[in-house]
Amino acid sequence: MNERAAQSNYGHASRRDFLKSSSAAVVGGALLSGLSIGRSVHAAGSDTLKVGLIGCGGRGSGAAAQALNADPNTVLWSMGDAFEDRLTSSLKNLSADGGIVKRIDVAKERQFVGFDAYKQVIDSGVDVVLLTTSPHFRPAHLKAAIEANKHVFCEKPVAVDAPGVRSVLESTEEAKKRGLAVVSGLCYRYDPPKRDVIGRIHDGAVGDVIAMQVNYNTGTLWHHGRKPEWSDMEYQMRNWLYFTWLSGDFNVEQHVHSLDKAAWVMHDVPPIKATGLGGRQVRTEEQWGNIFDHMAVMYEYENGVRLYSYCRQMAGCASDTSDHILGTKGKAELMRGEIEAGADKYRYRGPKPNMYDVEHQELFASIRAGQPINNGLYMARSTMMGIMGRMVCYTGQTLTWDQCLNSSENLSPSKYEWGSVAVPAVAKPGLTQFA
Ligand SMILES: NC(=O)c1ccc[n+]([C@@H]2O[C@H](COP(=O)([O-])OP(=O)(O)OC[C@H]3O[C@@H](n4cnc5c(N)ncnc54)[C@H](O)[C@@H]3O)[C@@H](O)[C@H]2O)c1
Repeated sequence: MNERAAQSNYGHASRRDFLKSSSAAVVGGALLSGLSIGRSVHAAGSDTLKVGLIGCGGRGSGAAAQALNADPNTVLWSMGDAFEDRLTSSLKNLSADGGIVKRIDVAKERQFVGFDAYKQVIDSGVDVVLLTTSPHFRPAHLKAAIEANKHVFCEKPVAVDAPGVRSVLESTEEAKKRGLAVVSGLCYRYDPPKRDVIGRIHDGAVGDVIAMQVNYNTGTLWHHGRKPEWSDMEYQMRNWLYFTWLSGDFNVEQHVHSLDKAAWVMHDVPPIKATGLGGRQVRTEEQWGNIFDHMAVMYEYENGVRLYSYCRQMAGCASDTSDHILGTKGKAELMRGEIEAGADKYRYRGPKPNMYDVEHQELFASIRAGQPINNGLYMARSTMMGIMGRMVCYTGQTLTWDQCLNSSENLSPSKYEWGSVAVPAVAKPGLTQFA
C-alpha cells in the first residue's frame, strides 16, 4: 500500500485518492506476492508474522481468523483473555476452521488468563496483536503494545473516557514514530461501497454538505446473567455492554460506527459543540447496569453543518441503521450506497468484499510493504464524538469539543481485582455534573 493509500484511511482523501487507494486495496494480495517484501524491522528475520489475540470473544475470534486468512505467512501464536473459558472456547472454534487450523500454534504455555494476560501475550514473541477486549481496556493495551513495538489491530471504540482518548492519541503518534501499523476496527472505512460513495461526496456529488442524520436504532443485545460465585467485577466484565466504565454506553460502543461515517464525510474535522437528550425508559432493571437505552444528539460544526444523531436499543420498536447526507445539490444514503442529485441517480454496483477481511488484508499488506497504516487520529476522534454525545446526554448541558476532550472524568475502577465494584447511579440530565 502506498503512502497516499495509507492517508486515505484517515478519510482525508479526494475521490482521486480513493480510486488509487482502492486499487491498492484490491491488489493487496498481489502486493504480498509480487513485490520484494520491504520487511519492517519488527518482522525482520522471518517471513512469518506471529499474531497474538488479546480478548478472545466473538469479535476477537473473528479477527484472528481474518488475520490468518489475510496473509498466508501468519501464525496465531498466543492468546489472552480475562477468563479461561472464553479463551478455551475461542481456541476450540478457531481450531475447527480447516482453512487456518494448520497455522494455529497456541501452545498451552502461550495461553494467558487474567488482567495481566495482555502483557504476557505482548511479551510472547508476537509481531502483531489484535486488541479485542471490551473497550475500557483498549488505551492501556494499545500503549503497552506500541511500547513493545508491536503492530496493532485495534477494535472500536478505542476508549470510554477522555483520558483514554488522549492516551490513544499519544500511543498512535508514538506508533507513527516507530513505524508501527495501527488499523482500526471502524470497519466501514474498509468497505468499498462506503469508500466509493464518501469519495464521491468529497468530490462534490451532493454539493456542499449542509446536514447529516445518522441512525442506529436496534433491539436489545445479549445478557449473560449472573452466577452466584461471580464477584461484581466478574459479573460486570462478562456483561460489559451495560456498564459505562466498560463499554462507554451503547452510543459509544455501537453507534460509534455511524458517528465515524459522519466524521469521515466531514474529513475528520471534529464538531465544535453538541447538545443531546436521552435516558433509560425501558431497560430500567438492575441487570442493565447504568447505561441509557436511547439518545439523540445534535452536533454542530464550525462551518454550520449539523449532524443529527439518533440511537436506541429497545425491543419491539422500529429498527433503522442508516446514514443520510444532505447537500446543496442532492443527498446520499451511505448504507444503501446511493446518491441522488436532481435527475442524476447513482448506486454503487462494484465489488462488495467482506470489510472485516479487507481491514486485515490492508493491515498485513502495509506491514509487508514497510508502509504501516495508522488510523489513530480518526479512531480516537470518532470515539470522542461518542463520548461527547454521552456527556451532553448525561448532563443535559451543551458542551464544546474542547471541554469534552479535556474532561478529567476517569471511569476506571480503583483497582482491577475480582472483588466488589459499585455501580454508579444512572445519570440524570440537569443533575449529573460534567467533570
Ligand atoms: N467492528 C465491529 O463491527 C465489531 C463487532 C462486534 C464487536 N466489536 C467490538 O469488539 C470488542 C469486543 O466485542 P465482543 O463482541 O467480541 O465482546 P465479547 O464479550 O464477546 O469479547 C470480549 C472478550 O474480551 C475479554 N476481556 C475483557 N477484558 C479483558 C482484559 N482486561 N484482558 C483480557 N481479556 C479481556 C472477555 O473475557 C471476552 O472474552 C468491543 O470493543 C466491541 O465494541 C466490534
